[in-house]
Amino acid sequence: MTRNAKAAALPRLRMLDLEPRSGMDAAEVLDGLRQPQKQLQPKYFYDEAGSKLFERICDLPEYYPTRTELAIITDSANAMADCVGPSAVLIEPGAGSSRKTRLLLDSLRTPAAYVPIDISRDFLLASAAELAADYPQVEILPVCADFSGALTLPEPSVPALRNVIYFPGSTIGNFTQDQAAELLTRLRELAGARGGLLIGVDLLKSPEILEPAYNDSAGITAAFNMNVLARCNRELGADFRLNAFRHQAVFDREAGRIEMRLVSLADQQVMVAGEAFSFSRDEHIVTEYSHKYSLEGFATLAARAGFVREQVWTDPQDLFSVQYLVSA
Ligand code: AVJ
Repeated sequence: MTRNAKAAALPRLRMLDLEPRSGMDAAEVLDGLRQPQKQLQPKYFYDEAGSKLFERICDLPEYYPTRTELAIITDSANAMADCVGPSAVLIEPGAGSSRKTRLLLDSLRTPAAYVPIDISRDFLLASAAELAADYPQVEILPVCADFSGALTLPEPSVPALRNVIYFPGSTIGNFTQDQAAELLTRLRELAGARGGLLIGVDLLKSPEILEPAYNDSAGITAAFNMNVLARCNRELGADFRLNAFRHQAVFDREAGRIEMRLVSLADQQVMVAGEAFSFSRDEHIVTEYSHKYSLEGFATLAARAGFVREQVWTDPQDLFSVQYLVSA
């Protein structure tokens, strides 16, 4: 089929639009840059260019999480489907291309509906339509929303036995433990009393594996990190000189996390949305935390959010885990 013929054959979908803001929030960016430790939120990585760079990161030899998680899901999709059970509504916050969802949908028994939630409207509609074409027996109910805000869910037209939240990719690692406990609590409430959470969690390991994963030799992660400055220039009228900053990623053992930074190469001043910010040479902006957990450490965090672990799957090297949590 030609591209146009394929597009024409795609089913039309009803999307619940909670109208998330799509650009950068100037007040939020300014607030982060005014802190004693300057910071920019990782959600700002993902404009169109950033999303494409992230897809390339996922295929890098040094970046083990994506392919390891895909292997775990491929190997254990049937056991995961047993946890989810029949007639469940599968809800995916930050669904993106739903690449990892297909593996799961292939194994689920009579899923009641699939609810992909994403902030990027066009991307969401396109991938939801493709899923609807490939899974005609599953009701696809896309929701355009920022999952870090309030969420309402669409009603499936067939009765469902439970809601299961699907949260792969170790996105939870971006949040501090307090923020993560809060988000997990909201997800537990969204899933409801008999609900569950199938979540991907990256595991603690040696810095010799961790640091190259965020410092790849092809420089894609560096470009991904630097892109946020280009985005500030474009969307907030900032004047970051891209060659006056460099990418850095370090593993903080104490905190159990990779910290991504943009390091100033000189004493300099930068204007952002009309406000001046001074940088001294070697001062950095924190752009992302990527927390890594031990199985016990994540169980403790999950317990704070009212979850108990029912099952866990890992790869043979214990690089990554997929876990099924239910209300305690
Ligand atoms: C999408 C948050 C899971 O923390 O590994 C990849 C993002 N940043 N390389 C991660 C990321 C740099 C990624 N998460």
